[in-house]
Amino acid sequence: MTRSAIFAVLLFFCNTLSAQKTLRTIQSPGRQTSVSVGLNRSGEIFYRINYRNRPAVDWSRMGLTTKSVDLSTGFKLIGADEKTRDETWKPVWGEVAQIRDHYRELEYRLQNEAGHRMTIRFRAYDAGVGFRYEFPAQNGLSTVSVTDERTEFQMAGDHTAWWIPGDYDSNEHVYTTSKVSAIDCAHYEREGNIYTKHIVHPKNVQTPITMKMADGTHIALAEAALADFGALHLEADPKNLKFKSFLIPSADSTIKSVNTLPFHTPWRAVLLSPDAAGILESKLILNLNEPCKIEDVSWIKPQKYVGVWWEMHVGLASWDYEGPQEILAAGQKPTFRHGANTENVKRYIDFAGKYGFDGVLVEGWNTGWKNWFGQWKEEIFDFAKPYPDYDIDEVVRYARERGVRIIMHHETSSAVTSYERQMDAAYAYMNKYGMNSVKTGYVGKIIPKGEWHDGQWMANHYVRVAERTAKNRIMVDMHESVRPSGQHRTWPNWMACEAARGQEFNAWSAGNPPEHECILPFTRILGGPMDYTPGIFEVRMNTYVPTKKEVVHTTVAKQLALYVTLYSPLQMAADLPENYEKRLDVFQFIRDVPVDWDDTRVLQASIGDYITTARRQKGTQNWFLGSITDENPRDVQIKLAFLPPGKTYEAIVYADGPDAHWDTNPYPVTISKRAVKKGDVLRLHLAAGGGCAVSLKLLERG
Ligand code: NOJ
Ligand code: CA
Repeated sequence: MTRSAIFAVLLFFCNTLSAQKTLRTIQSPGRQTSVSVGLNRSGEIFYRINYRNRPAVDWSRMGLTTKSVDLSTGFKLIGADEKTRDETWKPVWGEVAQIRDHYRELEYRLQNEAGHRMTIRFRAYDAGVGFRYEFPAQNGLSTVSVTDERTEFQMAGDHTAWWIPGDYDSNEHVYTTSKVSAIDCAHYEREGNIYTKHIVHPKNVQTPITMKMADGTHIALAEAALADFGALHLEADPKNLKFKSFLIPSADSTIKSVNTLPFHTPWRAVLLSPDAAGILESKLILNLNEPCKIEDVSWIKPQKYVGVWWEMHVGLASWDYEGPQEILAAGQKPTFRHGANTENVKRYIDFAGKYGFDGVLVEGWNTGWKNWFGQWKEEIFDFAKPYPDYDIDEVVRYARERGVRIIMHHETSSAVTSYERQMDAAYAYMNKYGMNSVKTGYVGKIIPKGEWHDGQWMANHYVRVAERTAKNRIMVDMHESVRPSGQHRTWPNWMACEAARGQEFNAWSAGNPPEHECILPFTRILGGPMDYTPGIFEVRMNTYVPTKKEVVHTTVAKQLALYVTLYSPLQMAADLPENYEKRLDVFQFIRDVPVDWDDTRVLQASIGDYITTARRQKGTQNWFLGSITDENPRDVQIKLAFLPPGKTYEAIVYADGPDAHWDTNPYPVTISKRAVKKGDVLRLHLAAGGGCAVSLKLLERG
């Protein structure tokens, strides 16, 4: 135990009588996890989490400070109640058909000398713990300006951690793997290509952060149900192997959030598992969120889509009607064309209709792109005004005829107040055209000035967008938002967020290292689906612009496997139609793979190294499997233990071809078919930066 932990425990137990009297412990239903909480003589709050009888979070401080009252000290225990809950609920869409919410709860009620009351609610699950601070309506305290959260997480060893820096504005960073004792963000100063970033504290990291202990136990620190509060980042204390909560501030840098009572903080979630796979299967964050608030959910549908998108990122087309402004300014003739022109969009609609995609995203369709770069510009975009070469009536008619829907795009350039002013009109405009999905984006510095992407004001904005789109029966996919924290349970129209470093970075930056997709599910995606935009077949950017050196850091087979390993109810086939038409046999997997599941099994996983996941398609007996690796080639054996007994399946295996390698030979994919049944073993070779995708279709006569 570190010095500060020993100090905390001493503080706690030296005052035996008062400490003992306030000490409460609850155990999770299957006794895997226990949480203890108590007060020391000064009325400071401490808690500890044990997992399988060993400390997972050792004695750590709790509480909040506000401008007017210190809510971390001077407390007395005035009551403590326990209850058990065991319920099973069905998500509108997801990785599994139903989710069990089974926990032991402790409501720990405190009061300070001035009479201020605060409750800490703990929930002990077998797979981790959630807790939050609650402030009931009370005399003498109506609004608080929160200045700090004092919750600490004392680690029980120098674990290996996967983390990105505590940037207030962006989560589009490459992950670092280090010991807790070595957390330091200095190298992120040299990281390019992130348009708006704000990293000011060298030891701060974002949640979720996931760690592996020496004995193989995994622990992730996260939050759930973020609303009306700054996002939770963590300030590492590498010397003492400890994290302290750090809330993203508001425009007034001395205040983190302003809250009117009654209110409660988001949940702080500690995910625990004996292995890496268990972290991926955890439903703790979803369980800590409120049930669905939308009555009629019949219009909410997972979907696959294509779009006028990658061609802009690879440099073939522009968002702006007049062409890229920097080229025009230099007096050069643009070699690019405006991507969102009627004819080009129809090409994508034809493609979507022909190959069974639900949606076509069209970016660059509306006025404003000429001025979108640059910070803090008001009223740039008009969300109801198409460019002259985009005949929206015709495009929508054409799409409808082919059973395809246009996905709306709202790039706000982070002029969020402008967007809020236009929101109702913009959604009404979508309704008029029968569009029921929107992709929003927040590139740039936030207006209101001084606010951050991860702050309280924006946390409330994202929830407002989810609410308002729901009211208009619109599904939403947010880019550059804060990381999701399970709110899709409450707002299942909030299909996905980007909120991490997506595929686009491979088109115009140093890109995503081969291990990137082996880390995302353990960190960012714990809070909710990601619109990663997989499916790139033409992985070398010099195909488009000879001088370009950028490449996708995977093989093509791995691009297929990502549809299974990176869960999302919204998946793009991100490459250009012509690239798919050249390889229709390989493309078949993207056509076949579903986006909604009844069951999910993580078969093998090691953070940053490899993941093998099998999922059963919603409403069928068909399974799909994805296996991916980092920069190291691997031979994996997959036992098909999850198949039902006595049935025969046709397995179509899309494997890395001979000598495949993400860098030197990314293209070859070998497709093979065979009959398999429960218990058979698939032996697969994954190339460096490679992967394998398998569809397992039940043979009727099996
Ligand atoms: C960044 C988004 O992540 C990307 O998908 C989009 O194309 C651009 N912004 C333009 O809005
Ligand atoms: Ca982005």
